[in-house]
Amino acid sequence: MSIDLTAASITEAVQKTFEGAEDERVKELFIRLVQHLHDFTREVRLTGEEWFTAMDFLERVGKTCTPTRQEFVLLSDILGLSVLVDLIHHPGGGSVTDSTLLGPFYVEGRPTAQNGSDISGEVEGIPLFFNGRVLDPDGNPVAGAKVDTWHSDGEGFYDVQMQDKLHGRLAMRALLTTDDEGRFWYRSVAPRYYPVPNDGPCGEILRAANRSPMRPEHLHFRLHAEGFEPLITMLVRSDDPYVERDAVFGVRRSLVVDFVHHDAGDTAPDGTRMGEPFQTVERTFVLDHREH
Ligand code: BEZ
Ligand code: FE
Repeated sequence: MSIDLTAASITEAVQKTFEGAEDERVKELFIRLVQHLHDFTREVRLTGEEWFTAMDFLERVGKTCTPTRQEFVLLSDILGLSVLVDLIHHPGGGSVTDSTLLGPFYVEGRPTAQNGSDISGEVEGIPLFFNGRVLDPDGNPVAGAKVDTWHSDGEGFYDVQMQDKLHGRLAMRALLTTDDEGRFWYRSVAPRYYPVPNDGPCGEILRAANRSPMRPEHLHFRLHAEGFEPLITMLVRSDDPYVERDAVFGVRRSLVVDFVHHDAGDTAPDGTRMGEPFQTVERTFVLDHREH
């Protein structure tokens, strides 16, 4: 019955309208969503003014979105939803490398690079040498794995945030391929902690809650290999001031690593005697076999 509804009976009336959905999952998702939305609304006794404010907020989130500014993804990130979805399906704790969120700065058109090359795109900063290895759960090397990596510069900016300065070039990102021993390695510049974009509607939430917008210093990785589950992950600098309070909840203990400092005059992993201080990071990634 959908007349003479009360604040209690309206929920079932709305849920019934989804009973006819052909797709069982669509039916389940909408029926449960209506339940939780209505329960929330009753619990907090949402006022008309508050609901209007929320609708206006969502409209502004939508209007802020562009091909390079994903405010809805950011909203999901700062509410912990992006990581929650990942944690449900990849709870971690096993031998396989933990995953975490992709973030908005991954781009499809990244350049491919040879192992050992400098992927900094001539951006200035503290030299950083990364050495990675990709293994299967039995410890065998995964040769020919495709490894995307991307990170910020030493001031916390990604290439896509400074396209004017870079004259439209991409930098500090590349697609590498592991060798026969599952190894990949590159040179770049050290990244830095940075704020998530907070000049839009999501920034209003962060400020209203007195929340920090900062993400700790990190390197992103996306790995694909034939016969293995894809992995999206990142490595976080262990002595970063924000390691315990990431604005988007993406840090997992297993992904925290040392960014090792070396003095000028030391020899870099590629055999270069460096005339300036530099950093090295090493990490093994373990991919899960693909389920069939
Ligand atoms: C990032 O790590 O690139 C990122 C993730 C979520 C929100 C903003 C940035
Ligand atoms: Fe990032």
